[in-house]
Amino acid sequence: MNHFELRGGVMHCEDVPLPLIARQVGTPVYVYSTATMQRHARVLKSALTKLEDPLIAFAVKANPNAAVLATLAAEGLGADVVSGGEYRRARAAGIAADKIVFSGVGKTAEEMALALRGGLYQFNVESFAEAEMLSEVALAVGRKAPVSFRINPDVAAGSHAKISTGGAQDKFGIGIGQALSAFERARQLPGLAPQGVAVHIGSQLTSLDPLEAAFGILGKLIGELRAAGHEITVADLGGGLGVPYDPSAPVPPSPADYAALVERMTAGWDVRLVFEPGRLIVGNAGVLLTKVIRVKEGPSQPFVIVDAAMNDLMRPSLYDAWHAIEAVVPKHENPMVADIVGPVCESGDIFARARTIERVEAGELMIVRTAGAYAATMGSTYNSRPLAAEVLVNGSDWAVVRERQDVEALIQNDLIPQWLDPSR
Ligand code: LLP
Repeated sequence: MNHFELRGGVMHCEDVPLPLIARQVGTPVYVYSTATMQRHARVLKSALTKLEDPLIAFAVKANPNAAVLATLAAEGLGADVVSGGEYRRARAAGIAADKIVFSGVGKTAEEMALALRGGLYQFNVESFAEAEMLSEVALAVGRKAPVSFRINPDVAAGSHAKISTGGAQDKFGIGIGQALSAFERARQLPGLAPQGVAVHIGSQLTSLDPLEAAFGILGKLIGELRAAGHEITVADLGGGLGVPYDPSAPVPPSPADYAALVERMTAGWDVRLVFEPGRLIVGNAGVLLTKVIRVKEGPSQPFVIVDAAMNDLMRPSLYDAWHAIEAVVPKHENPMVADIVGPVCESGDIFARARTIERVEAGELMIVRTAGAYAATMGSTYNSRPLAAEVLVNGSDWAVVRERQDVEALIQNDLIPQWLDPSR
Protein backbone atom coordinates (compact mmCIF):
# COMPACT_ATOMS: atom_id res chain seq x y z
CA MET A 1 0.00 0.00 0.00
CA ASN A 2 1.33 3.41 -0.93
CA HIS A 3 0.08 6.92 -1.55
CA PHE A 4 1.03 7.42 -5.19
CA GLU A 5 -2.15 7.28 -7.21
CA LEU A 6 -4.04 8.87 -10.06
CA ARG A 7 -6.50 11.58 -9.11
CA GLY A 8 -8.41 13.23 -11.92
CA GLY A 9 -6.05 11.57 -14.37
CA VAL A 10 -2.89 12.99 -12.76
CA MET A 11 -0.45 11.05 -10.59
CA HIS A 12 -0.37 12.46 -7.07
CA CYS A 13 1.77 11.80 -4.04
CA GLU A 14 -0.76 12.10 -1.23
CA ASP A 15 -2.51 15.42 -2.04
CA VAL A 16 0.23 16.86 -4.21
CA PRO A 17 0.13 16.55 -8.02
CA LEU A 18 3.52 15.41 -9.29
CA PRO A 19 3.63 17.88 -12.21
CA LEU A 20 3.68 20.67 -9.63
CA ILE A 21 6.83 19.26 -8.03
CA ALA A 22 8.45 18.71 -11.43
CA ARG A 23 7.71 22.32 -12.39
CA GLN A 24 9.08 23.81 -9.21
CA VAL A 25 12.03 21.52 -8.47
CA GLY A 26 12.90 20.15 -11.91
CA THR A 27 13.61 16.54 -12.79
CA PRO A 28 14.90 13.98 -12.03
CA VAL A 29 13.62 14.23 -8.48
CA TYR A 30 12.85 11.65 -5.81
CA VAL A 31 9.47 12.10 -4.14
CA TYR A 32 8.74 10.43 -0.79
CA SER A 33 5.38 9.97 0.93
CA THR A 34 5.22 10.55 4.68
CA ALA A 35 1.91 8.69 5.03
CA THR A 36 3.36 5.60 3.34
CA MET A 37 6.40 5.51 5.62
CA GLN A 38 4.23 6.04 8.69
CA ARG A 39 1.89 3.32 7.57
CA HIS A 40 4.67 0.79 7.09
CA ALA A 41 6.27 1.62 10.42
CA ARG A 42 2.89 1.27 12.15
CA VAL A 43 1.95 -1.97 10.37
CA LEU A 44 5.23 -3.54 11.43
CA LYS A 45 4.97 -2.21 14.99
CA SER A 46 1.45 -3.54 15.37
CA ALA A 47 2.40 -6.91 13.86
CA LEU A 48 5.09 -7.20 16.54
CA THR A 49 2.98 -6.06 19.51
CA LYS A 50 2.89 -9.51 21.08
CA LEU A 51 6.64 -9.27 21.63
CA GLU A 52 7.91 -7.53 24.72
CA ASP A 53 9.54 -4.19 23.89
CA PRO A 54 11.09 -5.04 20.51
CA LEU A 55 13.65 -2.60 19.08
CA ILE A 56 12.90 -1.74 15.46
CA ALA A 57 16.09 -0.23 14.11
CA PHE A 58 15.56 1.17 10.60
CA ALA A 59 18.42 0.19 8.25
CA VAL A 60 19.66 3.69 7.46
CA LYS A 61 21.45 2.53 4.33
CA ALA A 62 18.06 2.07 2.64
CA ASN A 63 17.32 5.79 2.81
CA PRO A 64 19.52 8.08 4.92
CA ASN A 65 17.79 11.35 4.07
CA ALA A 66 17.55 13.41 7.29
CA ALA A 67 13.84 14.12 6.77
CA VAL A 68 13.11 10.43 6.24
CA LEU A 69 15.05 9.55 9.40
CA ALA A 70 13.24 12.26 11.37
CA THR A 71 9.89 10.93 10.13
CA LEU A 72 10.80 7.44 11.33
CA ALA A 73 12.28 8.73 14.59
CA ALA A 74 8.89 10.31 15.31
CA GLU A 75 7.36 6.84 14.84
CA GLY A 76 9.68 5.59 17.57
CA LEU A 77 12.06 3.69 15.31
CA GLY A 78 15.74 3.34 16.07
CA ALA A 79 18.53 2.95 13.53
CA ASP A 80 20.77 0.23 12.20
CA VAL A 81 23.94 2.00 11.01
CA VAL A 82 26.99 0.69 9.18
CA SER A 83 29.37 3.64 9.17
CA GLY A 84 30.37 6.65 11.21
CA GLY A 85 28.50 8.75 8.66
CA GLU A 86 25.27 6.83 9.20
CA TYR A 87 25.74 6.99 12.98
CA ARG A 88 26.08 10.77 12.80
CA ARG A 89 23.11 11.11 10.45
CA ALA A 90 20.91 9.03 12.76
CA ARG A 91 21.87 11.10 15.79
CA ALA A 92 21.46 14.38 13.89
CA ALA A 93 17.94 13.32 12.86
CA GLY A 94 16.98 12.82 16.49
CA ILE A 95 17.29 9.06 16.89
CA ALA A 96 18.13 8.23 20.50
CA ALA A 97 21.56 6.69 21.07
CA ASP A 98 20.08 3.74 22.94
CA LYS A 99 18.12 2.79 19.82
CA ILE A 100 21.17 2.52 17.57
CA VAL A 101 22.70 -0.75 16.44
CA PHE A 102 26.09 -0.56 14.70
CA SER A 103 26.45 -3.31 12.09
CA GLY A 104 29.02 -3.82 9.35
CA VAL A 105 31.95 -6.03 8.54
CA GLY A 106 34.65 -3.34 8.48
CA LYS A 107 34.14 -0.94 11.37
CA THR A 108 37.24 1.16 11.98
CA ALA A 109 38.66 2.13 15.37
CA GLU A 110 37.52 5.72 14.72
CA GLU A 111 33.96 4.61 14.03
CA MET A 112 33.95 2.42 17.15
CA ALA A 113 35.18 5.33 19.27
CA LEU A 114 32.58 7.69 17.79
CA ALA A 115 29.72 5.35 18.69
CA LEU A 116 31.14 4.49 22.12
CA ARG A 117 31.45 8.16 23.02
CA GLY A 118 28.03 9.04 21.63
CA GLY A 119 26.34 5.93 23.01
CA LEU A 120 24.51 3.06 21.32
CA TYR A 121 22.41 -0.01 22.01
CA GLN A 122 24.94 -2.48 20.68
CA PHE A 123 27.64 -3.28 18.16
CA ASN A 124 26.94 -6.28 15.97
CA VAL A 125 30.45 -7.73 15.82
CA GLU A 126 31.29 -9.79 12.75
CA SER A 127 34.67 -11.40 13.58
CA PHE A 128 36.89 -12.14 16.53
CA ALA A 129 39.52 -9.75 15.16
CA GLU A 130 36.88 -7.01 15.27
CA ALA A 131 36.01 -7.99 18.86
CA GLU A 132 39.67 -7.58 19.87
CA MET A 133 39.89 -4.15 18.27
CA LEU A 134 36.60 -3.05 19.81
CA SER A 135 37.75 -4.14 23.27
CA GLU A 136 40.93 -2.09 22.95
CA VAL A 137 39.05 0.97 21.71
CA ALA A 138 36.48 0.62 24.49
CA LEU A 139 39.23 0.49 27.13
CA ALA A 140 40.85 3.57 25.61
CA VAL A 141 37.52 5.44 25.60
CA GLY A 142 36.68 4.22 29.10
CA ARG A 143 33.35 2.58 28.21
CA LYS A 144 32.26 -1.05 27.98
CA ALA A 145 31.09 -1.96 24.48
CA PRO A 146 27.70 -3.71 24.41
CA VAL A 147 28.04 -6.49 21.85
CA SER A 148 26.05 -9.04 19.93
CA PHE A 149 27.96 -11.43 17.73
CA ARG A 150 26.58 -11.63 14.19
CA ILE A 151 26.41 -15.27 13.18
CA ASN A 152 26.68 -16.54 9.63
CA PRO A 153 24.20 -19.42 9.65
CA ASP A 154 25.13 -20.67 6.16
CA VAL A 155 21.60 -20.40 4.83
CA ALA A 156 20.78 -19.63 1.19
CA ALA A 157 18.51 -16.58 1.21
CA GLY A 158 17.13 -17.24 -2.27
CA SER A 159 17.50 -13.58 -3.22
CA HIS A 160 19.80 -12.01 -5.84
CA ALA A 161 23.40 -13.20 -5.24
CA LYS A 162 24.62 -9.64 -4.66
CA ILE A 163 22.18 -9.09 -1.80
CA SER A 164 22.32 -12.53 -0.15
CA THR A 165 24.52 -12.39 2.92
CA GLY A 166 24.01 -15.56 4.97
CA GLY A 167 26.01 -18.12 2.99
CA ALA A 168 29.30 -19.47 4.36
CA GLN A 169 31.16 -17.93 1.39
CA ASP A 170 29.75 -14.47 2.09
CA LYS A 171 31.95 -12.05 4.02
CA PHE A 172 29.41 -11.51 6.79
CA GLY A 173 29.29 -12.75 10.37
CA ILE A 174 31.10 -15.41 12.37
CA GLY A 175 30.67 -18.94 11.02
CA ILE A 176 28.10 -20.84 13.04
CA GLY A 177 30.79 -23.41 13.88
CA GLN A 178 32.99 -20.73 15.50
CA ALA A 179 30.24 -18.95 17.43
CA LEU A 180 30.68 -20.73 20.77
CA SER A 181 34.46 -20.31 20.75
CA ALA A 182 34.07 -16.60 19.88
CA PHE A 183 31.96 -16.14 23.03
CA GLU A 184 34.49 -18.17 25.07
CA ARG A 185 37.42 -16.10 23.83
CA ALA A 186 35.47 -12.88 24.33
CA ARG A 187 35.54 -13.58 28.08
CA GLN A 188 39.18 -12.52 27.91
CA LEU A 189 38.32 -9.15 26.35
CA PRO A 190 37.77 -6.69 29.21
CA GLY A 191 36.33 -3.90 27.04
CA LEU A 192 33.34 -5.95 25.90
CA ALA A 193 29.96 -6.63 27.45
CA PRO A 194 28.54 -9.45 25.28
CA GLN A 195 24.76 -9.54 25.43
CA GLY A 196 23.45 -11.35 22.40
CA VAL A 197 23.48 -12.83 18.94
CA ALA A 198 22.50 -11.41 15.56
CA VAL A 199 21.70 -12.71 12.10
CA HIS A 200 20.87 -11.08 8.75
CA ILE A 201 20.79 -13.38 5.75
CA GLY A 202 19.89 -11.08 2.88
CA SER A 203 17.53 -8.55 1.40
CA GLN A 204 14.35 -8.62 -0.74
CA LEU A 205 13.45 -12.06 0.65
CA THR A 206 10.25 -13.33 -0.91
CA SER A 207 9.94 -16.51 1.16
CA LEU A 208 9.97 -16.98 4.92
CA ASP A 209 11.66 -20.40 4.68
CA PRO A 210 15.27 -19.17 4.77
CA LEU A 211 14.42 -16.90 7.71
CA GLU A 212 12.85 -19.85 9.50
CA ALA A 213 16.02 -21.87 8.94
CA ALA A 214 18.24 -19.02 10.17
CA PHE A 215 16.11 -18.34 13.27
CA GLY A 216 16.11 -22.06 14.07
CA ILE A 217 19.92 -22.11 13.97
CA LEU A 218 20.08 -18.98 16.13
CA GLY A 219 17.68 -20.46 18.71
CA LYS A 220 19.76 -23.61 19.00
CA LEU A 221 22.89 -21.51 19.44
CA ILE A 222 21.28 -19.47 22.22
CA GLY A 223 20.62 -22.73 24.09
CA GLU A 224 24.23 -23.88 23.64
CA LEU A 225 25.63 -20.53 24.72
CA ARG A 226 23.49 -20.50 27.87
CA ALA A 227 24.50 -24.08 28.65
CA ALA A 228 28.11 -22.89 28.47
CA GLY A 229 27.36 -20.15 30.99
CA HIS A 230 26.94 -17.14 28.69
CA GLU A 231 24.22 -14.66 29.47
CA ILE A 232 22.13 -13.95 26.35
CA THR A 233 19.58 -11.15 26.65
CA VAL A 234 19.31 -9.93 23.05
CA ALA A 235 18.66 -11.53 19.66
CA ASP A 236 18.84 -9.36 16.55
CA LEU A 237 16.93 -10.93 13.66
CA GLY A 238 18.11 -8.44 11.01
CA GLY A 239 15.96 -7.19 8.15
CA GLY A 240 15.36 -8.56 4.70
CA LEU A 241 11.62 -8.82 4.16
CA GLY A 242 10.88 -8.16 0.51
CA VAL A 243 8.38 -5.70 -0.96
CA PRO A 244 6.30 -6.03 -4.14
CA TYR A 245 8.03 -4.45 -7.16
CA ASP A 246 6.20 -6.29 -9.92
CA PRO A 247 2.42 -6.45 -9.42
CA SER A 248 2.28 -9.59 -11.54
CA ALA A 249 4.77 -11.46 -9.28
CA PRO A 250 3.66 -13.37 -6.16
CA VAL A 251 3.16 -11.04 -3.19
CA PRO A 252 6.01 -11.30 -0.64
CA PRO A 253 5.13 -12.43 2.90
CA SER A 254 3.32 -9.75 4.89
CA PRO A 255 4.59 -8.23 8.15
CA ALA A 256 1.84 -10.26 9.89
CA ASP A 257 3.15 -13.52 8.36
CA TYR A 258 6.67 -12.52 9.34
CA ALA A 259 5.59 -11.68 12.90
CA ALA A 260 3.80 -15.03 13.23
CA LEU A 261 7.01 -16.79 12.19
CA VAL A 262 9.04 -14.75 14.66
CA GLU A 263 6.62 -15.52 17.51
CA ARG A 264 6.69 -19.22 16.74
CA MET A 265 10.45 -19.50 16.31
CA THR A 266 11.47 -17.32 19.26
CA ALA A 267 8.96 -18.60 21.83
CA GLY A 268 10.86 -19.28 25.03
CA TRP A 269 14.02 -17.46 23.97
CA ASP A 270 13.53 -14.91 26.76
CA VAL A 271 15.45 -12.14 25.02
CA ARG A 272 14.78 -8.65 23.70
CA LEU A 273 14.32 -8.95 19.95
CA VAL A 274 15.85 -6.43 17.56
CA PHE A 275 14.76 -5.93 13.93
CA GLU A 276 16.58 -4.09 11.17
CA PRO A 277 14.05 -3.45 8.39
CA GLY A 278 15.01 -1.11 5.59
CA ARG A 279 13.19 -1.73 2.32
CA LEU A 280 9.96 -2.78 4.05
CA ILE A 281 9.59 0.67 5.60
CA VAL A 282 10.61 2.94 2.74
CA GLY A 283 10.69 0.87 -0.48
CA ASN A 284 7.36 1.84 -1.97
CA ALA A 285 7.23 5.18 -0.13
CA GLY A 286 9.24 6.78 -2.93
CA VAL A 287 9.22 7.30 -6.68
CA LEU A 288 11.74 8.73 -9.07
CA LEU A 289 10.02 11.45 -11.08
CA THR A 290 11.59 11.92 -14.50
CA LYS A 291 10.89 13.67 -17.79
CA VAL A 292 11.03 12.19 -21.27
CA ILE A 293 13.81 13.93 -23.20
CA ARG A 294 12.95 12.34 -26.49
CA VAL A 295 11.63 9.19 -28.07
CA LYS A 296 14.13 7.61 -30.45
CA GLU A 297 13.35 5.00 -33.04
CA GLY A 298 14.79 1.57 -32.32
CA PRO A 299 15.26 -1.59 -34.37
CA SER A 300 12.30 -3.38 -32.81
CA GLN A 301 10.77 -0.82 -30.46
CA PRO A 302 11.38 2.82 -29.61
CA PHE A 303 13.78 4.02 -26.93
CA VAL A 304 12.09 6.35 -24.46
CA ILE A 305 15.02 8.45 -23.25
CA VAL A 306 14.30 9.96 -19.85
CA ASP A 307 16.34 12.46 -17.84
CA ALA A 308 16.97 10.02 -14.97
CA ALA A 309 19.73 7.47 -15.43
CA MET A 310 21.68 4.67 -13.81
CA ASN A 311 23.58 7.21 -11.76
CA ASP A 312 20.28 8.23 -10.12
CA LEU A 313 18.80 4.72 -9.75
CA MET A 314 21.32 1.95 -10.05
CA ARG A 315 19.16 -1.06 -9.16
CA PRO A 316 18.10 -2.06 -12.69
CA SER A 317 21.71 -1.93 -13.95
CA LEU A 318 23.24 -3.57 -10.91
CA TYR A 319 20.72 -6.28 -10.05
CA ASP A 320 18.54 -6.42 -13.19
CA ALA A 321 15.86 -5.15 -10.82
CA TRP A 322 12.33 -4.68 -12.16
CA HIS A 323 10.64 -1.37 -11.32
CA ALA A 324 7.17 -0.32 -12.44
CA ILE A 325 7.29 2.72 -14.75
CA GLU A 326 4.20 4.79 -15.42
CA ALA A 327 3.15 7.99 -17.11
CA VAL A 328 2.23 10.80 -14.71
CA VAL A 329 -0.68 11.85 -16.94
CA PRO A 330 -1.60 8.58 -18.67
CA LYS A 331 -3.64 8.80 -21.81
CA HIS A 332 -5.14 5.31 -21.49
CA GLU A 333 -5.18 4.77 -25.19
CA ASN A 334 -2.90 3.14 -27.63
CA PRO A 335 -0.12 1.87 -25.27
CA MET A 336 3.41 1.48 -26.59
CA VAL A 337 6.16 -1.07 -26.13
CA ALA A 338 9.48 0.62 -25.48
CA ASP A 339 12.92 0.40 -23.94
CA ILE A 340 13.11 3.03 -21.21
CA VAL A 341 16.64 4.30 -20.94
CA GLY A 342 18.70 7.10 -19.43
CA PRO A 343 21.21 9.42 -21.11
CA VAL A 344 24.34 7.79 -19.61
CA CYS A 345 26.81 6.37 -22.12
CA GLU A 346 26.48 2.71 -21.24
CA SER A 347 24.13 0.11 -22.68
CA GLY A 348 23.43 -0.95 -19.10
CA ASP A 349 21.79 2.41 -18.46
CA ILE A 350 18.36 0.96 -19.01
CA PHE A 351 15.38 0.97 -16.66
CA ALA A 352 13.18 -1.43 -18.63
CA ARG A 353 13.35 -3.42 -21.84
CA ALA A 354 10.38 -4.04 -24.14
CA ARG A 355 8.00 -2.68 -21.53
CA THR A 356 4.39 -1.91 -22.34
CA ILE A 357 3.64 1.61 -21.10
CA GLU A 358 1.19 4.39 -21.75
CA ARG A 359 2.22 6.27 -24.88
CA VAL A 360 4.53 9.13 -23.91
CA GLU A 361 6.14 11.94 -25.83
CA ALA A 362 9.05 14.30 -25.30
CA GLY A 363 8.44 16.63 -22.37
CA GLU A 364 6.04 14.31 -20.55
CA LEU A 365 6.60 13.04 -17.04
CA MET A 366 6.98 9.47 -15.82
CA ILE A 367 7.58 7.82 -12.48
CA VAL A 368 9.77 4.89 -11.60
CA ARG A 369 8.04 3.28 -8.64
CA THR A 370 9.36 1.60 -5.51
CA ALA A 371 12.31 3.97 -5.42
CA GLY A 372 12.26 4.81 -1.72
CA ALA A 373 14.89 2.24 -0.73
CA TYR A 374 18.42 1.78 -2.08
CA ALA A 375 17.75 4.40 -4.71
CA ALA A 376 18.81 8.02 -4.08
CA THR A 377 21.33 6.73 -1.54
CA MET A 378 23.13 4.67 -4.18
CA GLY A 379 23.27 7.60 -6.59
CA SER A 380 26.53 8.79 -8.07
CA THR A 381 27.69 11.66 -10.25
CA TYR A 382 28.77 9.42 -13.13
CA ASN A 383 28.82 11.31 -16.43
CA SER A 384 29.13 14.48 -14.26
CA ARG A 385 25.43 14.35 -13.57
CA PRO A 386 24.57 16.09 -10.29
CA LEU A 387 22.82 14.07 -7.56
CA ALA A 388 19.05 14.37 -7.92
CA ALA A 389 16.89 16.47 -5.62
CA GLU A 390 14.65 14.83 -3.01
CA VAL A 391 11.18 16.00 -1.93
CA LEU A 392 9.09 14.88 1.03
CA VAL A 393 5.29 15.12 0.82
CA ASN A 394 3.03 15.20 3.86
CA GLY A 395 -0.64 15.54 2.95
CA SER A 396 -0.87 18.73 0.92
CA ASP A 397 2.47 20.01 2.27
CA TRP A 398 5.70 19.30 0.52
CA ALA A 399 9.30 20.38 0.88
CA VAL A 400 12.62 19.90 -0.84
CA VAL A 401 14.59 17.72 1.60
CA ARG A 402 17.73 17.61 -0.49
CA GLU A 403 18.60 20.27 -3.01
CA ARG A 404 19.69 19.14 -6.43
CA GLN A 405 23.47 19.07 -6.38
CA ASP A 406 25.03 22.13 -7.94
CA VAL A 407 27.19 21.20 -10.95
CA GLU A 408 29.45 24.16 -10.27
CA ALA A 409 30.10 22.84 -6.74
CA LEU A 410 30.83 19.44 -8.22
CA ILE A 411 33.47 20.95 -10.50
CA GLN A 412 34.91 23.07 -7.70
CA ASN A 413 35.51 19.94 -5.61
CA ASP A 414 38.29 18.91 -7.97
CA LEU A 415 41.63 20.58 -7.36
CA ILE A 416 44.21 21.35 -10.05
CA PRO A 417 47.74 20.76 -8.70
CA GLN A 418 50.18 23.61 -8.91
CA TRP A 419 52.34 21.95 -11.63
CA LEU A 420 49.37 21.98 -14.00
CA ASP A 421 48.55 25.59 -13.27
CA PRO A 422 51.73 27.60 -12.71
CA SER A 423 49.78 30.84 -12.50
CA ARG A 424 48.43 29.79 -9.09
N1 LLP B 1 20.65 -5.28 8.40
C1 LLP B 1 21.82 -5.49 7.75
C2 LLP B 1 22.98 -5.92 8.52
C3 LLP B 1 21.90 -5.27 6.37
O1 LLP B 1 23.05 -5.48 5.74
C4 LLP B 1 20.76 -4.84 5.66
C5 LLP B 1 20.81 -4.60 4.21
C6 LLP B 1 19.57 -4.62 6.38
C7 LLP B 1 19.55 -4.86 7.75
C8 LLP B 1 18.30 -4.14 5.74
O2 LLP B 1 17.78 -5.04 4.84
P1 LLP B 1 16.34 -4.81 4.19
O3 LLP B 1 15.32 -4.91 5.29
O4 LLP B 1 16.34 -3.46 3.58
O5 LLP B 1 16.23 -5.88 3.18
N2 LLP B 1 21.22 -2.32 -2.46
C9 LLP B 1 20.43 -3.55 -2.44
C10 LLP B 1 20.08 -3.99 -1.04
C11 LLP B 1 21.29 -4.14 -0.14
C12 LLP B 1 20.93 -4.56 1.25
C13 LLP B 1 22.11 -4.44 2.14
N3 LLP B 1 21.86 -4.77 3.51
C14 LLP B 1 19.18 -3.34 -3.30
O6 LLP B 1 19.02 -2.29 -3.90
O7 LLP B 1 18.38 -4.26 -3.42
